Amino acid sequence: MELNTLIVEGGRKISGTVRVGGAKNSSLPLIAAALLTAGTSTIEDVPRLKDIETMRGVVEALGARVIMEDNVMTVDSSCLNGNEPPYDLVRAMRASFLVMGPLLARMGSAHIFQPGGCAIGARPIDLHLKGFAALGAEIDMSGGVVKAKVDGRLKGDRVYLDFPSVGATENIMMAAATADGRTLIENAAREPEIVDLANFLNKMGARVRGAGTPMLRIDGVEELAPSSHTVIPDRIEAGTFMIIAAGTQGSLYIDNVVGEHVKPLEAKLSEAGAHVETFEGAMRVSADRRLKAVDVTTMPYPGFPTDMQAQLMAVLCTSEGTSQVTENVFENRFMHAPELSRMGANIKISGRTAIIEGVPNLTGAQVNATDLRASAALVTAALTAEGETHIHNISHLDRGYENFEGRLAKCGARMRRE
Ligand code: UD1
Repeated sequence: MELNTLIVEGGRKISGTVRVGGAKNSSLPLIAAALLTAGTSTIEDVPRLKDIETMRGVVEALGARVIMEDNVMTVDSSCLNGNEPPYDLVRAMRASFLVMGPLLARMGSAHIFQPGGCAIGARPIDLHLKGFAALGAEIDMSGGVVKAKVDGRLKGDRVYLDFPSVGATENIMMAAATADGRTLIENAAREPEIVDLANFLNKMGARVRGAGTPMLRIDGVEELAPSSHTVIPDRIEAGTFMIIAAGTQGSLYIDNVVGEHVKPLEAKLSEAGAHVETFEGAMRVSADRRLKAVDVTTMPYPGFPTDMQAQLMAVLCTSEGTSQVTENVFENRFMHAPELSRMGANIKISGRTAIIEGVPNLTGAQVNATDLRASAALVTAALTAEGETHIHNISHLDRGYENFEGRLAKCGARMRRE
């Protein structure tokens, strides 16, 4: 039986050293990209997570052979023999849809169940499809399945994204890598994970320029070759540790961080009164007093990441003063708020904005994790709270954090699963 409740003893300062793993959100598209060419690619520092297992299942169902040893994954896509990933895997994780670009490029067709809505918002795929259509794919949506096909090769063209979607930018970039001619993706996402994927594709022989800017230029090449790559550090995991250190008035030395990638959070924590020291590939975050309220608005990179919003809100609940948090990326991403309220937080939601009146302290309660980052937020809140918090449905946490409890336990946290 799965142990799906995490019991956290709060009120302890979290101090010590933690190492951040490779980025989940980079690893997922990198695994998909390995489908673009026959042969074996090696991806290093892949975190051992449920979402990674799901992506592994997806590429294996398409015929790839995958080996994962420690944190090194090899993907042999010599003989792809499928173009339709199983419904259960696509339903379990929206990022499964990232195999569409590679499948279209390599096999000329793909049938993928529509990923559908999820807890944090409707999350459509229109921008992915708009890109594939611009590259010459015929798209048909019926019976909840997206069927895309192309006669011969995809053809480079200009694609303007109405919103800088991370997934759409990645999917279109992969599809365009071996298309005929030049593809321009305008208003492209600029997240570090986009740059990581572009770097991997370029090692495979692709010609992608402009990653990290709003204009991506991809000159299609005849074919790609397998390659190896080390995943960038997970900026969301690093950020979660930064917030925990500051929120518990502890001190964490966080190893394997790219300072630039966590700048928006660093700025907010400093504004709130935490101390942040940066070193080569590492940082120390500490606080010696209650944090001060801050206002934050989530935006595409380099703005404040939506994936850090819940965790920051968790510590703003006990900060001095009134904070305002505006969620601009997903329309329904405040599900952690009522759970934090059960712990004594004073949060009012109006549309996309949450007003958080800081209270002196939170107290342990029974709470429910609704999604990955909400569960990280509840762990964060529970660590700062007085008494014991029972977080139900904690399995969401395992989608995005490898051995989270083990690493925090070494820094003074007390928690157990039941
Ligand atoms: C990725 C991340 C996720 C993060 C999100 C935003 C991965 C595996 N996941 O998700 O952790 O929270 O970026 O930083 O990398 N949209 C459309 N049409 C589309 C695609 C997206 O309207 O075709 C909208 C979405 O509904 C959402 C916004 O664009 O409101 C951002 O979504 P997007 O950047 O695509 O997020 P994901 O790639 O799904």
